[in-house]
Amino acid sequence: MDGNGRWAERRKRPRIIGHRAGARAVNVCIDFCLEQGIEALTLFAFSSENWGRPDEEVGALMKLFVNALEREVEELHRRGVRVRFIGERDRFQDAIVARMTAAETQTRANTRLTLVIAASYGGRQDIAQAARALAVDVAAGRLRPEDIDEGAVAARMALADLPEPDLFIRTGGDHRVSNFLLWQLAYTELWFTETLWPELDAATLRRALEDYARRERRFGLTGAQVTPPSNRNDA
Ligand code: FPP
Repeated sequence: MDGNGRWAERRKRPRIIGHRAGARAVNVCIDFCLEQGIEALTLFAFSSENWGRPDEEVGALMKLFVNALEREVEELHRRGVRVRFIGERDRFQDAIVARMTAAETQTRANTRLTLVIAASYGGRQDIAQAARALAVDVAAGRLRPEDIDEGAVAARMALADLPEPDLFIRTGGDHRVSNFLLWQLAYTELWFTETLWPELDAATLRRALEDYARRERRFGLTGAQVTPPSNRNDA
């Protein structure tokens, strides 16, 4: 969700105005996913590193977060959206944690779309907590070191129960993943746009899906292995 600050600065407005506009764009994205029948959407709302921003901006973001939780969860529930949060939950104030947990409990049986909000999240931190969980299991005698393989790590990562992401979209013009879902993105298709997050619209998201649909995902195999010759454009 990159570009909120620049969107505001270009309008000579405080950065928090950009974050407010960014919170509105979240609904555009959710509407699009529901319309397209997309199974899971993970939004990088606040990184572990974002705590280092000026106190005023962090405070305003927390207020925005609480307001969004108060305002949107009922409607998301009505629309069949399951809400989840990943990240270091204990860094948030108790009242926010209580709202996060309540949203998850209320929506846990919904199946139309899983909406994951990454809040105080970092991909490296996610890998570190999986390593810690492995160490705990080894120390308790539940796991032998020689049994630690990719599956054992994957099972302890955030989002272990969801399919790996098919498509990663970054707004705001930068071409990097910035510590988002590092483990889970191994074979994800990456798509970058100059569009600033508050300006995200269905047309931009449709372009991303169209581009994704043209890509050949080989997962380390050859083109001929994943696409029969009769279906290949170059056949
Ligand atoms: C990135 O834009 C956006 C953010 C750091 C915060 C987005 C979060 C919300 C709008 C909702 C609040 C949610 C939580 C979990 C606190 P940027 O400021 O990095 O944009 P820039 O690159 O243009 O400066």
